[in-house]
Amino acid sequence: MASKAQIQTVKADFLDPSLYEDTGLSGVPRLSRGTILGALSRAFDLAEGRKPGHAQRVAYIGVYLASDLGLEPARIEEVYFGCLLHDVGMSVLDPVSIQAAPVATRWARNGRSSAEVLVRPSSGGWSEIIETIARHCETGAAVARRMGFSEPVAAAVLGHHDCWDGSGRPGALRGDAAPLVSRIVALADRFETLLDGDAPPLALRRSGPALVRDMAGRELDPELAHRMAELATRDDFWMGLYDNDLGAGLMALNYGGVLGRDELFEFLGVLSDVVDVRNGREEGSGRRIADMARRVALHCDMTERRADLVKVATLLHDIGTLGVPARYLRKPDILSIDEMSAVQMHPIYARDILGEIPGLGAAAWWVGCHHERVDGKGYPGMLEGSEVPVEAQIIGMCETFDALTNDRPYRRALPRSEAFEIMRGLAGNRFDSYLLARFESVAGPFDA
Ligand SMILES: [Fe+2]
Ligand SMILES: [Fe+2]
Ligand SMILES: [Fe+2]
Repeated sequence: MASKAQIQTVKADFLDPSLYEDTGLSGVPRLSRGTILGALSRAFDLAEGRKPGHAQRVAYIGVYLASDLGLEPARIEEVYFGCLLHDVGMSVLDPVSIQAAPVATRWARNGRSSAEVLVRPSSGGWSEIIETIARHCETGAAVARRMGFSEPVAAAVLGHHDCWDGSGRPGALRGDAAPLVSRIVALADRFETLLDGDAPPLALRRSGPALVRDMAGRELDPELAHRMAELATRDDFWMGLYDNDLGAGLMALNYGGVLGRDELFEFLGVLSDVVDVRNGREEGSGRRIADMARRVALHCDMTERRADLVKVATLLHDIGTLGVPARYLRKPDILSIDEMSAVQMHPIYARDILGEIPGLGAAAWWVGCHHERVDGKGYPGMLEGSEVPVEAQIIGMCETFDALTNDRPYRRALPRSEAFEIMRGLAGNRFDSYLLARFESVAGPFDA
């Protein structure tokens, strides 16, 4: 196990404090749906087991093609969100075959296909893969609707594994019976998946046009596939696809409109529900913890605006668990060292993902620290005392209390009085004693 000195060296090497600066912080920034999802799509990549940036590259390809076709702006936005959200359904599931499912689009059929090229069936076998494909498409479409996206976006998520020739998910639409936006999203996902190997960009630039043309008329709309093959001969397409600032460029498009305060809470609340379900917690736990964290922040003399930012951070505090196998998160037993190491990555994933959203640097830092302890025995940084931000402790206190007072796979809910008793035992080691006293005065009164 790494020593504290080693961990601090790693921290010093990898963390750029300027990313998490709190100066001039004036509350929740004005953010668009497109900016938030541009960054959070990286969490969906983790859940799908894909290379970082998969959903962003799919969005780039989809928007590039849609723009070339001269689609009106509203349709282009639908393509963008369909691409970013296409695999959000994977965030809820944890199938054995998770590695195979996302690319299994054309199973056990004749001819060359992305499935044959990329699928490595795991212990789950084909029937489980097919089941996973259907379920993650349906679940993803439901999540998109709950986030307030239009029916064309939900339909694109639902149909992203459907094939032009009608094969694929039971109920898949054949040919141009499927909406154009859906066909573009399906193409963008299929094309990015084929490029997702280890070959260098120049080799992919040479093979890319043929790869997409090869799927014309079977997996993909032939007209779109041939057009995409032509676009894939352009240098600017490839330079954009492999641009290190691709994510920032997509987020700067600000698609979907800027969210008002309550709209933002609701938008993030849906994602918090997704995390609850994945973690085997009652849906709505994350929202409840976030509301409590906001109240505690106010009781710790923070401004309304800062307390709102604490609520935003809390709604997203466990988004990094999308990168942890759900069976570890739901395990009703003690975790092995390897399993625990995987679980302990989740604040780091969340911090790095949220740090990409303009104006959320401080919130990213708090989220990254929500499992730190004032006695220096927390993770991931083993911070000590006042190094652990107050906001991170508030998130931790609210999460701990909610966990104690609700059923978990490994134990029944405790009465609030007993939960407070346990929390008091954490004063000076897990949490700062003064903060804990403030917390108790907000979270009470408790039952006998
Ligand atoms: Fe998928
Ligand atoms: Fe995908
Ligand atoms: Fe956590």
